[in-house]
Amino acid sequence: MKNTYDFGLVGLGVMGRNFILNVADNGFTAFGNDLDAEKVSALIEEGGDKNKVDASTEVSTFAAALAKPRRIMLLVPAGKVVDIVIENLLPHLDEGDIIIDGGNSFYTDTDRRDAYLKTKGINFFGAGVSGGAKGARRGPSIMPGGNREAYQHVKPIFEAVSAKYKGEPCVAYLGPKSAGNYVKMVHNGIEYGLMQLTSEIYDLLKKGGDFSNDELHSTYSKWNKGRLQSFLVEITSEIFEQEDDLTDGRLVDQILDKAKQKGTGKWTSQNAMDLGIPVPSIDIAVSMREISALKEERVQADALYGRPKVAHMDKDKLEKLAEEALYFSFIITYAQGLHQLADASKEYGYELDITVVAKIWRAGCIIRAGLLADITEAFKADKNLPNLLLSPTFVEKVQSTVDAARTLVSYGATNGIPLPGLSNSLTYFDAYTSSRLPLNVIQAQRDYFGSHTYERLDREGVFHTEWEK
Ligand code: 6PG
Repeated sequence: MKNTYDFGLVGLGVMGRNFILNVADNGFTAFGNDLDAEKVSALIEEGGDKNKVDASTEVSTFAAALAKPRRIMLLVPAGKVVDIVIENLLPHLDEGDIIIDGGNSFYTDTDRRDAYLKTKGINFFGAGVSGGAKGARRGPSIMPGGNREAYQHVKPIFEAVSAKYKGEPCVAYLGPKSAGNYVKMVHNGIEYGLMQLTSEIYDLLKKGGDFSNDELHSTYSKWNKGRLQSFLVEITSEIFEQEDDLTDGRLVDQILDKAKQKGTGKWTSQNAMDLGIPVPSIDIAVSMREISALKEERVQADALYGRPKVAHMDKDKLEKLAEEALYFSFIITYAQGLHQLADASKEYGYELDITVVAKIWRAGCIIRAGLLADITEAFKADKNLPNLLLSPTFVEKVQSTVDAARTLVSYGATNGIPLPGLSNSLTYFDAYTSSRLPLNVIQAQRDYFGSHTYERLDREGVFHTEWEK
């Protein structure tokens, strides 16, 4: 049984086990590897036929079982573990073999590993995999980056196991080096933004319109059948319905309001700052997770300051405004993330085609949404669109919903309901669409106190003024 299995997978945790079973379902033979003997046996049992799915705790057995060039995917925690697994594999590999890191690795780590493995004759891929455990089993969105020629060996398997949007696979070669990990990082940044928005709209409906959990469920389900159709709106509608096993109420009301994070949203924000690309809807989503973590301080401050009494709004009116505002702010969040991708592509030489990115996000991943079909069309019409807001097809969508965002942001401010994602999206929109901003004053201030110079509207050149009288 030597060198026959089509695909190898290291890391048989939930994601790994589901992914390898998905590979086997699609007619490929697959071999797993994990240090944990229980995970190895569990996979063998679930796989049913050892000729199709087998596994071992031994790296040598694993490597010997794989057809060449070996296609080995790692689904292990990002960070040091990836380096350790690579080192363990290396003595058993041959030139031309392929290692694919399927975790949320930081893109510079991927570049480092890519350069290192090149010296060993190994092709390395960073491939973001989105869709959680269910996605891994039934069809994830996969974002691979690496050597274009070597991708041909991986392509048939990835295309078979990925989610399909109207028959089209939600996977495509994205670009060299860390292009895949970078795209996945920004995917997660957008994910943070959309999650923040769906959660604050829930707060608004609850506090401003007294929506019960049943009403929230039906509102979000209704929205999911319209232009807001998306995985996150869908699961949020289901969350409101979930009964609690431990009390008589709904589970959502018993969950502690402190959100954790593994870092991908923060990386997106940090890197956007480095690139000089504004992504405030993502930044604030990261900050809100940080504010949420300060639960004890928030409780103290709440007692110290209190908040305005909420003046309730008519339910139907609020629901309509909320739908429009959520749609508006979803568009703004995608616009920011895609803007970052377009810029990063130039900076890091990824040669990304944003149409392809939008296409492979239409199904399988966490940020899949009906809106992505429109986004794909917008970038098809203009491949080099710098920002979605400049697409003629988006003007009407934004114009017809921005007023709802204005009404709700001012309603939230008056009534003490925090709507940071929505207000940041609105402010971004107002600033991005202003041909004249007050930053002329900042330039004047810089020149005043530091002789930093300024440019003028009416003539070319660099100027300095002796401001002090
Ligand atoms: C996905 C997700 C996934 C991520 C979780 C948790 O696309 O399937 O992005 O990769 O790990 O969303 O992320 P946080 O712990 O940072 O919220």
